[in-house]
Amino acid sequence: MAVHLAARATADGTPNALAVARAELRARRVEVLDLTDSNPTRHGLTHPGVLEALQRATTKADRYQPDPRGPRAAREALAERRGGAPDDYFLTASTSEAYGWLLTLLADPGDAVAIPAPGYPLVEPLARLAAVRTTEYPVNYLHPYGWSTDTAALAKVAARADVRGVVVVNPGNPTGAYVADDERGPLIEAARGGGAALISDEVFGPFHLDGPPRTLAGEDRVLTFALDGLSKLLCAPQLKLGWIRLSGPHDETAAAAAALETIADTYLSVGAPVALALPDLLGLADEVAAATRERLVVNLATARALLDDGGWRVRRCDGGWTALVDVPRWLPDDELALHLLREAHLWVHPGWFYDLPTPGALALSLLPEPEAFAEGCRRLRAAVDGLAI
Ligand SMILES: Cc1ncc(COP(=O)(O)O)c(C=O)c1O
Repeated sequence: MAVHLAARATADGTPNALAVARAELRARRVEVLDLTDSNPTRHGLTHPGVLEALQRATTKADRYQPDPRGPRAAREALAERRGGAPDDYFLTASTSEAYGWLLTLLADPGDAVAIPAPGYPLVEPLARLAAVRTTEYPVNYLHPYGWSTDTAALAKVAARADVRGVVVVNPGNPTGAYVADDERGPLIEAARGGGAALISDEVFGPFHLDGPPRTLAGEDRVLTFALDGLSKLLCAPQLKLGWIRLSGPHDETAAAAAALETIADTYLSVGAPVALALPDLLGLADEVAAATRERLVVNLATARALLDDGGWRVRRCDGGWTALVDVPRWLPDDELALHLLREAHLWVHPGWFYDLPTPGALALSLLPEPEAFAEGCRRLRAAVDGLAI
């Protein structure tokens, strides 16, 4: 008899038409300009000091000294730079792993967490793997004002008995929207009133563009888990280090910390070299984040110069690594992306890949080198305008 594989682990992996077309071009060795790529290690953003710090720390990692929360020196460095106390922090191998631990901590199988739509497309699969359901609350766009959370809808969802957590992506991927000052109170009230904890994913926090940055880290009115890590902060996803900062009412944080420590102790997944390197790595963070932000600013300005008139529109982008561009709708989104791939050798993602509720938007990565990004924008403009009847 064939072995059973869990349904939640075997989602349909059939490639879509775009992925097939992309693979065909690759097989024919056709060079495609990729405006979807958000892997920072491919765009000249790696700081040499990062690997040097890792090498130095590796020589100190000869003895295994497990600590479920991560080495104290690393957590002290986080507390010093980010606020809070060393014991508020839990190191993880990635932010994605942090989601997994928190879903396990907060929700029994079949329970749910509220997630923003759009917010970050990987939250749903992470929840599915943890046997947790998701229920969406809307985040709406109005040009030129930007994105706003439907806090009334969120309050309704959070009040459900099965909803154990409210996920906020701050700022969102790909919306780039931070939790606005006037959303913060209703958001906290919705979570607290519904007996749900707040999970605030802040990996794109330092990369503010059209608006100021905002953080929920350290919020003390509701049990709050703020997530961050090196994959965006240092443009170093390969280092595999993230962290959770815990805050909230004292009685709740104490119980949550004890249970989270048990989960962390069960996995002990963080590698010693990167954890020991963290104090040095955090010393590079401001410089690396500033250089990355400069890249984002330049590319966003290019997108605005080339793609923001005559039926084209670059959406407000408060932060993050993605620009959302509304394009003239000569073709349905998937057909347009296929056309761009085949005719202009340009690879862009339609907005629905990121759960955008309305058609006509493309998501462009702001990470590529400025010349490549500008060339991609020019190709995009020419190819779409060339479709005009
Ligand atoms: C909003 C958001 N959160 C978390 C992650 C995952 O980060 P990590 O590499 O630490 O798992 C990503 C990765 O793209 C992201 O976009």
